[in-house]
Amino acid sequence: MARITVLGGTGYTGSNIVKEAARRGHEVTSYSRKPTENPERGVSYVTASLIDSTERERAVADADVVVATLAPRGEMEAGFVDLYDDLATLASASGARFGVIGGFGSLRPFEGGPRMAFGDDVPAEYAAEGQTLATIAENLEKAAPKNLDWFFISPAAGYGSYAPGEATGRYRVGGDVVQFDENGQSFISGADFALAVLDEIDTPAHRRAQFSVMY
Ligand SMILES: NC(=O)c1ccc[n+]([C@@H]2O[C@H](COP(=O)([O-])OP(=O)(O)OC[C@H]3O[C@@H](n4cnc5c(N)ncnc54)[C@H](OP(=O)(O)O)[C@@H]3O)[C@@H](O)[C@H]2O)c1
Repeated sequence: MARITVLGGTGYTGSNIVKEAARRGHEVTSYSRKPTENPERGVSYVTASLIDSTERERAVADADVVVATLAPRGEMEAGFVDLYDDLATLASASGARFGVIGGFGSLRPFEGGPRMAFGDDVPAEYAAEGQTLATIAENLEKAAPKNLDWFFISPAAGYGSYAPGEATGRYRVGGDVVQFDENGQSFISGADFALAVLDEIDTPAHRRAQFSVMY
């Protein structure tokens, strides 16, 4: 059993991760500004803004694993990269494992290529969010504290709250290069993505590495 703190544990990604972590018997704490309407049994829900550095310190303290599922939207948009840098520093100091949920645009079109979010092919409505997440991936890869045990997970292109999909119990793991299924699609449901996150927590296979999850 691990003490898992999910930042944004009431959101689309976070609530699926909270649910799966609680189902596996972990000690789970969620942080969000607003309370959830669908609490999971046994989960501690803290309502606080993580823009406040004191709350960030509180959130990371005593956790074995911190999973960041915040989104660079609204008041979170400005300063998002600095906020994640700060979380990485806090996790490094406390010895917590640090997992970041990133974007499809954080992946590379080919081995060694630039992350897609930095190119011209990302739809305008996703460009800013994609670049922010890709910058966090770059920072972890190039400048994470030496002792920080981090992982960065990119979901499939079609992943998102607008298409929750079904829980199938299966998923495929790739590296930091985009992959598509046999029909040329890139999708993963919210529940199956959470399975992959918890499998990584329970049996670490990607230390200081980015990986992707899709069907
Ligand atoms: N296909 C893709 O590439 C793709 C698709 C979707 C998402 N993503 C990525 O996955 C990650 C999660 O996205 P999502 O759509 O699951 O997010 P979401 O549903 O919007 O959830 C965000 C969570 O963060 C919390 N939050 C927001 N501001 C906060 C603050 N100041 N303090 C504390 N908590 C705060 C929200 O709760 P409150 O509002 O109550 O605070 C909520 O729990 C993001 O990095 C996103 O870019 C990638």
